[in-house]
Order: sequence, then structure tokens, then C-alpha cells
Amino acid sequence: MKASLFRSAETALRRVSSPSASSHLLRRSYCVESKPERKVAVLGAAGGIGQPLALLMKLNPLVSSLSLYDIAGTPGVAADVSHINTRSQVAGYMGDDQLGQALEGADLVIIPAGVPRKPGMTRDDLFNINAGIVKSLCTAIAKYCPNALVNMISNPVNSTVPIAAEVFKKAGTYDEKKLFGVTTLDVVRAKTFYAGKAKVPVAEANVPVVGGHAGITILPLFSQATPKSNNLSDEDIVALTKRTQDGGTEVVEAKAGKGSATLSMAYAGAVFADACLKVLNGVPDVVECSFVQSTIVPDLPYFASKVKLGKNGVEEVLGLGPLSDYEKQGLESLKHELKASIEKGIKFATQS
Ligand code: 2OP
Repeated sequence: MKASLFRSAETALRRVSSPSASSHLLRRSYCVESKPERKVAVLGAAGGIGQPLALLMKLNPLVSSLSLYDIAGTPGVAADVSHINTRSQVAGYMGDDQLGQALEGADLVIIPAGVPRKPGMTRDDLFNINAGIVKSLCTAIAKYCPNALVNMISNPVNSTVPIAAEVFKKAGTYDEKKLFGVTTLDVVRAKTFYAGKAKVPVAEANVPVVGGHAGITILPLFSQATPKSNNLSDEDIVALTKRTQDGGTEVVEAKAGKGSATLSMAYAGAVFADACLKVLNGVPDVVECSFVQSTIVPDLPYFASKVKLGKNGVEEVLGLGPLSDYEKQGLESLKHELKASIEKGIKFATQS
């Protein structure tokens, strides 16, 4: 996934920057340009995650139109990114009056809008500000691009996804197959930490991460990690699990008041968005972990797990697979917090 995202971006860059206009290159260029038109909107595009995400989406040859929206600062970001010689046309939109235009015709909307954590804060501490932001953005999505796939990055994801669902339900546009909480950064972290400890090539590492996207609700399944490693002790697994769960906090503390993960989050958001664009274009057999409407764990109407993606979004929510005793314990311990966060989101959206 990671490799293919950058391979395709590199190919596009090489192609557009080549001085040669051989027929071979023109033919290859034609192939890329003949890919379906896809409009991607980034809401919160001038922010810490939004800017590098805008850059990465500009490098993605599957995007034909890149719409960058924020309450301020987007003309500059859009002008800057638009000079990159890749396929997509870039437009910047600013303020409430331009939100409709930013969204109209979007196939995919990515939402990193909102405020980040400061040291000592949990993702839930962001609820009071970010819940309202997500609610108003989703109200606009329901109006201007009700059929778009929505990738929710704004925290607390465990609550903002239920908020988005309730807003869409109220508007009569909810399609559970099209709403995704982006948990890819948990997978990215789990892969990196696992590869480092297990001494396997990081490019080959794969670790499913289930549950939610906050603290103990993040449950990496190292028992299912590949390539298999026999040199990890129980203590190693506990340490890897904890580091994955606290990965966001590790960055928040290192940034010491200057925010949370932006670069790795943008990377993870771009990986997940790329998967969504691929399936919209008919690529088969794409599986990613995501926080979606789910029935795989009783009492948790939203849950992150492996999801098979298809042309209409979620094609199948895949089960958890066999869990180790430690993971079973982790699953039990996350239920209470995840349920409360989901209910908090639903309550906010239905009562405000
Ligand atoms: C993280 O996990 C920003 O929630 C994001 O770091």
C-alpha cells in the first residue's frame, strides 16, 4: 500500500517532468489522464494535518480535482500546492459561503478539521470544539455531496464518526457503507513498531488494529502480525501494544504544546484515501482497517476492524479472527470506553 502510493506518485512526477515527448511517453500519459475524474475535498486543508495531506493528495494521480477548504488560509495553500506538476487541478475555498462550492461533485471528502491535543489532553478533551465543527461540515456534505465517501480524521474519531452518521441520518442521506473513521495511523504505527522489534522488513510488516482510535480502545492484534516472528516475548507484546495505543500521545508530548501528529497522520490519511479512490475506480480486493458501522462486537455499533472495500464503500466488515488471551482481555477492557464515546457522539448530534 505504502509503496504503491508513492510508486504511482513518482510515476506521475517522472512523466510530467520528462522533457521527452516520445510517443511511448505520450501513450503512458494518455493512460493516466484517461483514469476517471475524481474530485477530492479536504476540509481543514490549511491546518497541521490538512497541509501535508493536501500535498500528498496532489501527488496522487487518481485525483483530478483537489478542493482545499478551511475557515482561513486556503488561498495560500492552494496556490502553493497548485504549482506542483501533477494531474489534479487545485482550488482553494475559504469560509462558510464557499463550503458548498468546495464540496459540490466531490467523490471523496477527507476531514482533518478541528483542534489538536496539547500535552495532558486526551482525544476526548477535544470533543467540545471538534464535535460542533464536524457537525456543521457534515451538514454541508449531506447537502452538497451526499454520495461522497467520507474519511473522518477529526478527533475524537470514536465520537465524530457517530456524530457524522447522525447528521446524515437526520438529513436522510446516511449510507453506512460510505462513512469511515480513519484509523490507518494506528496500523502505520503498529507496523513500524512491530518491524523494529521483530526485526522483519518494515515494508512487509502487517498488523491489523481493531477497536477505536483513542488510548486503550486501540487494540493492535500482534498475534496476527506478519511476517510471523518467534522472537517476541509476552513482555515485548505488552510493550508494543502500549506504544501503539500511546503513539499519538508520544507525539503530543514530543511536540510539547505545538500540537499532535500531523505528518504521519497526513501520510496515513493519504494511504486510506488512496485505497478509497482505488475501489471507486474498480480495483478489487482492497482491505483496510477502519472505524465503521459494525455488528461484529455486540453493543458497539461502530468498531474498527478489517474492512473489505468496494465501489460503494464498505463491501464487507471482516471479523476479528482468532485472538490471543491478551487481546481478548484488551477487547473486554476497551468496550466500556468505546461505548461511552459512541454514545456521547450520538447524544450530541441528536440533542443539539
Ligand atoms: C494521532 O493518533 C492525530 O489522532 C491522531 O496521533
